[in-house]
Amino acid sequence: MAEPKENVLMEKIVSLCKRRGFIYQSSEIYGGINGFWDYGPLGAELKRNVKELWWNTMTRLRDDVVGLEATIIMAPAIWKASGHVDTFSDPMIDCKTCKGRFRADQTDEIACPQKPSKCVNECHGEKTAPRAFNLMFQTYVGPLQDDSAVAYLRPETAQAIFAQFKNVLETSRQKVPFGIAQVGKAFRNEVTPRNFTFRSREFEQMELEFFIKPDEVIEAISGSVATVPDPGHPGEPQPNWGWQAWHQYWVEERVAFYERIGLSRHTLGFHVQTPEELAHYARATTDILFKFPFSKRDGQGELKGEELEGIAARSDFDLSQHQRCSGKPMGVFDDELRTAWGKLPKEKQDDLWRRYCENRKKYLTKTGVTDEAATKQATEDANGLAKGQYIPHVIEPSAGVDRLILALLTNAYSDATKTDEKGKVETTVVLKFHPRVAPIKVGVMPLLKNKPELVTKAHEVRDLLRPWMNVFYDDGGSIGRRYARQDEAGTPFCLTIDFDTLGEKPELLNTVTLRHRDDGRQERLAIGDLLTWLLPKIR
Ligand code: GLY
Repeated sequence: MAEPKENVLMEKIVSLCKRRGFIYQSSEIYGGINGFWDYGPLGAELKRNVKELWWNTMTRLRDDVVGLEATIIMAPAIWKASGHVDTFSDPMIDCKTCKGRFRADQTDEIACPQKPSKCVNECHGEKTAPRAFNLMFQTYVGPLQDDSAVAYLRPETAQAIFAQFKNVLETSRQKVPFGIAQVGKAFRNEVTPRNFTFRSREFEQMELEFFIKPDEVIEAISGSVATVPDPGHPGEPQPNWGWQAWHQYWVEERVAFYERIGLSRHTLGFHVQTPEELAHYARATTDILFKFPFSKRDGQGELKGEELEGIAARSDFDLSQHQRCSGKPMGVFDDELRTAWGKLPKEKQDDLWRRYCENRKKYLTKTGVTDEAATKQATEDANGLAKGQYIPHVIEPSAGVDRLILALLTNAYSDATKTDEKGKVETTVVLKFHPRVAPIKVGVMPLLKNKPELVTKAHEVRDLLRPWMNVFYDDGGSIGRRYARQDEAGTPFCLTIDFDTLGEKPELLNTVTLRHRDDGRQERLAIGDLLTWLLPKIR
């Protein structure tokens, strides 16, 4: 039976990634290590571009988001407070015959030592009952390897943001609503890493925690909470936005980001998580999906897509947990609330007080606090409203860098097979990356490498562009071969320095041929105009 075309495409992408230096298996010379991947020269550039674009979009181009770079290993108490020690697990079963271990919710995926990568049914061994398998990597800090020294590699970058919330608030001159962004490594000991880099054990996240006022506070200040408009971008943030408007805003902002780097809306999908799917901290989550070749299909045979990013409304769960577990206050003081509260009619105050108190009590009870203690604490919290105090809620757009890289590679991949006049079949690959993410922006090529005047001029062009963008200088082989090599690397533009550049046709002196990757179109540009032509296309 023929291989499904999606598997063929994945195989081609995996093979191209190795051949062209995008992605290699980690520790390959020792047989590799499952679930870990290295990025080669082109992959490292691609990844760097993606992270930089995210960082610029989320922080530098906004007034209301600042950055953070925290450590990977943090006090283990953070992971107790966040819920990861107790609940961050997958259900796992063991096979008593083959000793394979696999996820109970994915019985078609098995790491079976007898028949690696084969279905559980191949082995037919007796299985244990499902057990929770914590996904955090554990290590020891310091020379003692006992319980007092246990620490974890962070399973998400988010918690450092919550733990440093007060420091950032006090040092950044931000006021709620505002966000803290972080890019960095995270680690999960996945039971079955799979689909190339899609589910790996070491990966990178780009996370924003955007802190907002609770709806009761918005209502106190603005009179009412904005109703969420029809699907689509709700526009510029407004003071009366509650969590639902902010949630929708961030979903749409993130889609706009993907569109700006070449993933059009039709390559994406959306999944609104059901209550059963929601993580322990979330009150609503919308996943942005990409239609990866290995995605499952819907009833109509269309690829459904796999998660690229989750946009979660995490309520005040995380800050509340850190306040409760560390004993340090995580609330904010809001003068606008204090003033507005004083002007509210008594019935309105009572209504908002009661709703806020109920929500706080619901949270506290869920965390195991006794009813009596929860009532006492919730009453105290609700009394804080009159003093302008509350614990912010948060909307979290959380994206996986490695998944995005794989999506960009898949989206960009295009190949064609030609038979030449001698009957030789040749396959050419073009990676149609958006110029903003392309690892190499420009290939610079002297027409001939043995003509010093051409080489000197080509070096001049390379040196002009190099401080601004990643340039690849190539003088080896025919121009056609050199173009093909750049097409395969996804380089959007190539510049050729020829005899006209040197003035053979006087009117073309100091101009170069600029060749477009996707349609092979060529045009002539003055060297002096190159930067103004190129920069807006790659930024
Ligand atoms: N911070 C959310 C996640 O890691 O999935």
